[in-house]
Amino acid sequence: MKALLPTGRPEEMVELGESQEPQPAADEALIEVRAFSVNRGEVFQLHGPLRPGGGRPGKDIAGVVVRAAADGSGPAAGRRVVGHPPANGWAQYVAVPTRSLTEIPDDLSFESAAALPLAGLTALRLLRTAGSVAGKRILLTGASGGVGHYVTELAIGEGAEVTAITATPERGKHLTEFGATVAHDLSEAAGPYDIVMESVGGTSTPQSLALLKERGQLIWFGQASRQPAQLSFFEFFKGPRSATVRHFHYEHFDELFGTDLAQLVSLVAKDRLHPQIGRLEDWQHTATTLNDLRDRKITGNAVLRVG
Ligand SMILES: NC(=O)c1ccc[n+]([C@@H]2O[C@H](COP(=O)([O-])OP(=O)(O)OC[C@H]3O[C@@H](n4cnc5c(N)ncnc54)[C@H](OP(=O)(O)O)[C@@H]3O)[C@@H](O)[C@H]2O)c1
Repeated sequence: MKALLPTGRPEEMVELGESQEPQPAADEALIEVRAFSVNRGEVFQLHGPLRPGGGRPGKDIAGVVVRAAADGSGPAAGRRVVGHPPANGWAQYVAVPTRSLTEIPDDLSFESAAALPLAGLTALRLLRTAGSVAGKRILLTGASGGVGHYVTELAIGEGAEVTAITATPERGKHLTEFGATVAHDLSEAAGPYDIVMESVGGTSTPQSLALLKERGQLIWFGQASRQPAQLSFFEFFKGPRSATVRHFHYEHFDELFGTDLAQLVSLVAKDRLHPQIGRLEDWQHTATTLNDLRDRKITGNAVLRVG
């Protein structure tokens, strides 16, 4: 089968090549992939030299079940599904644990479904971590990507007031349509906030921490700038006397991915969540798409069609 193989070269991180068809375990279904999406974390992983035994990338896929799991779990052959395998999804076929799969309705395209898993699961679980956000003021940094889009739509849908930080007005346009206040520098953000969701790192972390209310919480979920947070004792004199910082990783939850994927699909069906596909290409153009994602040229999700 054809698959995208890591090259170890920073400018062409992957190339189409031949790979063995997967041999699914008893609790895995074999999926013919129709579309997949790419994420910043995968760009980071592909950017360095090849890791021995590093495997192939790909965590967000949508497609059709060609062989149901041998243990009888999960969807039957022929069903349309979205899934979140641990790896190897940028390929014609992938084996996906049935606990990380859910069916999609006929009116949800493979492309829109593929935009849901990593970004949508992260957004859903970030909001769960935050607790009830109705009436709360939220500051969200690094907001123009897939996660920012879903967090903004879901949080505003729950009654929160969201200030989103994006590099330019153009990159924040889709967020203003949900009712978010969009700013392009933290100095423009009118605090204090009940909750900060911070994913940029560098100076963004202490600056946004200083914008919290007394006893507010900062949920720390990324470092898009690749710069570690620079914490300054003196910066804190401008902020709350006391606040909570919570480290977040979307995998550190008890819920199965399949259960939460079903929630996301249901939110889309109820018109409460709208995947934003900022780039849609044939998968031959994956390397260029990865570069553009890295260089902040894509808003929302980047989706590739397996032609
Ligand atoms: N902890 C977890 O479990 C988890 C899971 C998924 C994703 N994440 C992280 O969450 C963040 C958002 O994910 P995503 O998929 O929405 O990513 P994305 O589409 O690449 O968006 C990241 C955003 O960060 C902003 N950014 C600000 N400063 C940046 C810089 N110096 N370099 C690059 N980007 C910068 C960019 O917006 P502007 O260009 O408009 O500023 C960009 O749109 C990422 O940091 C990702 O690694 C964490």
